[in-house]
Amino acid sequence: MGLSITNVLKLFLFLFTLSGSAVQILSDGVGINYGQIANNLPSPARVSVMLRSLNISRVKLYDTDPNVLYAFSNTDVDFIVGLGNEYLENMTDPIKAQSWIQQRLQPHLPQTRITSILVGNEVFKSNDAKLYSNLLPAMQSVYRALVGLGLEKQVTVTTAHSLDILANSYPPSAGTFREDLAVYIQPLLDFHAQIKSPFLVNAYPYFAYKDSPNEVSLDYVLFQPNQGTTDPNTNLKYDNMISETGWPSKGDADEAGATPENAELYNGNLLKKIVQRQGTPGKPSVPVDIYVFALFNENLKPGPASERNYGLFYPNGNPVYNIGLQGHLPEIAISPSSSSSSFKINILPLFSLLICAVAYLLICA
Ligand SMILES: *[C@@H]1O[C@H](CO)[C@@H](O)[C@H](O)[C@H]1NC(C)=O
Ligand SMILES: *[C@@H]1O[C@H](CO)[C@@H](O)[C@H](O)[C@H]1NC(C)=O
Repeated sequence: MGLSITNVLKLFLFLFTLSGSAVQILSDGVGINYGQIANNLPSPARVSVMLRSLNISRVKLYDTDPNVLYAFSNTDVDFIVGLGNEYLENMTDPIKAQSWIQQRLQPHLPQTRITSILVGNEVFKSNDAKLYSNLLPAMQSVYRALVGLGLEKQVTVTTAHSLDILANSYPPSAGTFREDLAVYIQPLLDFHAQIKSPFLVNAYPYFAYKDSPNEVSLDYVLFQPNQGTTDPNTNLKYDNMISETGWPSKGDADEAGATPENAELYNGNLLKKIVQRQGTPGKPSVPVDIYVFALFNENLKPGPASERNYGLFYPNGNPVYNIGLQGHLPEIAISPSSSSSSFKINILPLFSLLICAVAYLLICA
């Protein structure tokens, strides 16, 4: 059974009173997805300067683009790098996993702070049973290769899930994973627990709204003040917990809600939550790591117009809408070593439980 729209919505219900207008937007602690499916983006060296002028200290990259990793050497920016689903089968082979790390990661360590490898992305969203069964063995052999190279303390191993892995998410204490996935998820959770690596979920309430704009309250999905919900079983009030997330500023005629105004509200409110360092109601002191999708509009992404309009910035560095993020995109590239001056070290906890229901399952399992 998949996740119904109602459940998605309930998941995003939360008691959230914005603390007035006094919240100062500082982007310190904000993570960003650096997507590059475009032919008009500024060079990684320029982007490196821009992100640091924004105090963005965490970046998720979908691959291991050496130009990007080099451009961020000797900076305090932490990277999650991606190993695409197409590599999973090969990665189950320990020799291939080791040589992937030696070729793609090691040349950048330790001068670029690569803290995590995302092995596969939204694997359980595919219908590929082979991919399902390759996921954990691939993660295990990548991890063992890291151990073999003495890198496992620096770099951790995880994967990212879509919300489809949940059968029920409301109330959070009744959260369940899809039964047909239990055979994969249970050992995966054991592995996360064993190596102490974070569990990542990608969540896009925009899709729930787009699919049923007449049923779904926009305030609700845009983090505007609303009534919220209390879990009747735990009496904990639940807030919104998401990892990779974003809202498009533009879409086709049939893509309800994809406007600059909505994107500004969604990402602006999201940023405030990140900056306030909120944890889950069950673990309020553990901030949730959130990576906003995406840094730039990406003009070569296939699909509906919204897909090409998730960016916070245009390729020229101008903000698409104003959420208080004013970065400096220099005209020319500055070499990484000469531009690594005044960045304070921002150590964020590796553990971040990103969906209340998932968090509950993990704690109580
Ligand atoms: C970045 O951080 C510095 C030092 O912490 C601070 O002075 C500056 O205002 C911040 N800039 C932004 C855009 O958040
Ligand atoms: C997997 O390994 C085979 C044999 O070494 C190689 O030819 C192929 O390109 C690899 N696949 C990927 C996606 O790297």
